[in-house]
Amino acid sequence: MRILSVETSCDETAISIIEANKTESNIDFTILANQVVSQIDIHKEFGGVFPIVAKREHGKALVPVLKKILEKAEMGIQNTSTSPLLSQARDKCSLTSPVHEREQMHEYLSREPELLEQFIPYISSIAKPDIDLIAVTTGPGLAPALWVGVSFARALAVAWDIPVIGVNHMEGHILSSIVPKDANSFSIPEIKFPSLSLLVSGGHTEIILVKDWMNYEKIGQTVDDAVGEAFDKCARMLDLPYPGGPEISRLAEIARNENLSDDRIKFPRPMINTPDYNFSYSGLKTSVLYKIQELGSLDDKTKQVVALEFENAAIEVLVKKVERAIDEYHIENLIIGGGVANNKHLQREINIKLENKVNKIFWPRLDTSTDNSIMIGLVGALHYLSNGKTDNPETLSANANWEL
Ligand code: KG4
Ligand code: ZN
Repeated sequence: MRILSVETSCDETAISIIEANKTESNIDFTILANQVVSQIDIHKEFGGVFPIVAKREHGKALVPVLKKILEKAEMGIQNTSTSPLLSQARDKCSLTSPVHEREQMHEYLSREPELLEQFIPYISSIAKPDIDLIAVTTGPGLAPALWVGVSFARALAVAWDIPVIGVNHMEGHILSSIVPKDANSFSIPEIKFPSLSLLVSGGHTEIILVKDWMNYEKIGQTVDDAVGEAFDKCARMLDLPYPGGPEISRLAEIARNENLSDDRIKFPRPMINTPDYNFSYSGLKTSVLYKIQELGSLDDKTKQVVALEFENAAIEVLVKKVERAIDEYHIENLIIGGGVANNKHLQREINIKLENKVNKIFWPRLDTSTDNSIMIGLVGALHYLSNGKTDNPETLSANANWEL
């Protein structure tokens, strides 16, 4: 079967087409086409993501991305030819769809005028592609951003008369690390359950016990800011561009390689010794703010030391809590997900401190660590092929606070 998946929960507009086939004991996946349009350049001006701006940009980008993705997968067949094959396909197209279905599409897209304006003409101009299921992120995320993707997915499901399934974004991040570094065809690797997943991004810092695929228990999370958010805020205080994670990491690596230190600059490790698996990054961020104010104007070297000390503090807490959870739950497989998985110091520390404690650590590759739709397609396929789950397009809605 072929799944078209849609992700709009934050500041990336992403669509993929994935082939998924059930075998006796597994699912074989092939990524047929994948496209991500990032809004980072727009949000850079504001120093962070504004939900209403994100919503507007998703509305503009979805149809062009759909067009590109269908062309990549050689499915964007124009509906104008007179060839018998295409006229057959045209018969199935939304152009000929009953009036009430067209009304439904208008209704689903009524709050997304920019999307509606592009959607109807484009969908009417192509034959129904060889897609069997639409998967879409319905939460968690920014409500206005999520709704654009959900409305788009509902309208597509009606236009092509195929089922739709709502996917949890965090489950997507868990599944994202099953995509191998160097291949687009793969199946689900053998995992020893329970496994442990550390999800670290701009919106989340969570430790999830993976009891089985589709069976998760969150055992810890941030009580305030997410770790990626703390990197971004700390970067802003140092006048570094958004997103700040890679920038802080770059400065920290310079300080580390040059053995820079400054006795005045030391930061706390919030909640490192609490007996739970929760995190707090708001206090660390405030410590950085006070230190910067105390130091006055900062030269480049001092900025590098601030970045180094912040990164050391932020990562040490993550690694310590994961290590404790590995011991408590006798974990053999560790799964990492989210944009902060790209942090070199986190990778090094986890590899050094935890490699001997677990059999295998699954890291996402660059394009599946940050927000993407491949992971949404994987989750959609997993649920659909395992237990036939689909959602009703009439009632499918965004759930900004959906907990795993
Ligand atoms: O998963 P993601 O693309 O989006 C969210 O769902 O939030 O993660 C983006 C976050 C941003 O906060 C960004 O600063 C952070 O991941 N990030 C990093 C690095 N690369 C991205 N943080 C630390 N070090 C990095 N190398
Ligand atoms: Zn994410």
